[in-house]
Amino acid sequence: MKSSPAPFVRLLSNDPLLLQPRRTHPLVWCSAIICLVFCLLVIFLGVTTLIIYLVIRPKYPSFDVPNANLNTIYFDSPENFNGDFTVLANFTNPNRKINVKFDYLDIKLYFVDRLIATRALEPFSQRPEEARLEMIHLISSLVYLPPNPAVELQRQVQSNRVTYNIKGTFRVRAKVGIARFTYWLHTKCQLELTSPPLGVLVAKNCSTKKR
Ligand SMILES: *[C@@H]1O[C@H](CO)[C@@H](O)[C@H](O)[C@H]1NC(C)=O
Ligand SMILES: *[C@@H]1O[C@H](CO)[C@@H](O)[C@H](O)[C@H]1NC(C)=O
Repeated sequence: MKSSPAPFVRLLSNDPLLLQPRRTHPLVWCSAIICLVFCLLVIFLGVTTLIIYLVIRPKYPSFDVPNANLNTIYFDSPENFNGDFTVLANFTNPNRKINVKFDYLDIKLYFVDRLIATRALEPFSQRPEEARLEMIHLISSLVYLPPNPAVELQRQVQSNRVTYNIKGTFRVRAKVGIARFTYWLHTKCQLELTSPPLGVLVAKNCSTKKR
C-alpha cells in the first residue's frame, strides 16, 4: 500500500526558507580561493623578508670625523666674521652584504647655536664594508654673529680652544632581498680645535641617529 507523504513533510517543504537554493555560487568560491592564494603569498613574502633580514642583519652606515683643520677666523667688523674650516669625514658601510647609497647629504657648521656655514655633498654609493673619506670645505663669508656669540668666539680663539658643532643630514637607500629601505640619518659632532691659522683637532664627539 502506497503511503501518502506524512503531513509534517508537506509542512516542511512549504516553509519558504527551505525552498531557497542552498548551493554556493561558483563566483564566491572563486574569489575565496583567489583571496586565500593572495594571503598565502603575502605571508610567504613577509616571512622570506624577515628571514633574510635576520640572517643579514642590516646595520646603519656610520659617520666620523678623523681630522679637521681650522684655517681662518677673521672678523671684518665686531659682528661679521669670515671663516675657513676643513673637515675630513669618514663614511663607513659596516654591512657585509648590503650596498648602500647616500643620495642626499647636507652638512651644517654651527658655533654655539649659530649657523655659520653649510655644504651639500655629491651623492655616492658604498660597497659592503667600504669606508669613504671626504674632504669637506666649510667657508663662512661675512657671516653675521650677534654680540654674545661673537665675543665668545673671539675669547675661544684667544684661549686656543675653539668648539664647533657639525650637523649632518643624510638620506640613505639600501636593498635587502626584495625589500628596499630608505631612511634618514642625523649626525651631530662636537669638535674642539686649537686656534687658526693652524688649528688642529684636539677632541671630538660624534653620534649618529636614525629618524
Ligand atoms: C674610517 O672608519 C672605519 C670604520 O669605523 C675605520 O676602520 C677606518 O680606519 C676609518 N678611517 C680613517 C681614516 O679614520
Ligand atoms: C663630548 O660630550 C660630552 C657630553 O656628552 C661633553 O661634556 C664633552 O665636552 C664633549 N667633548 C668634546 C670634545 O666635545
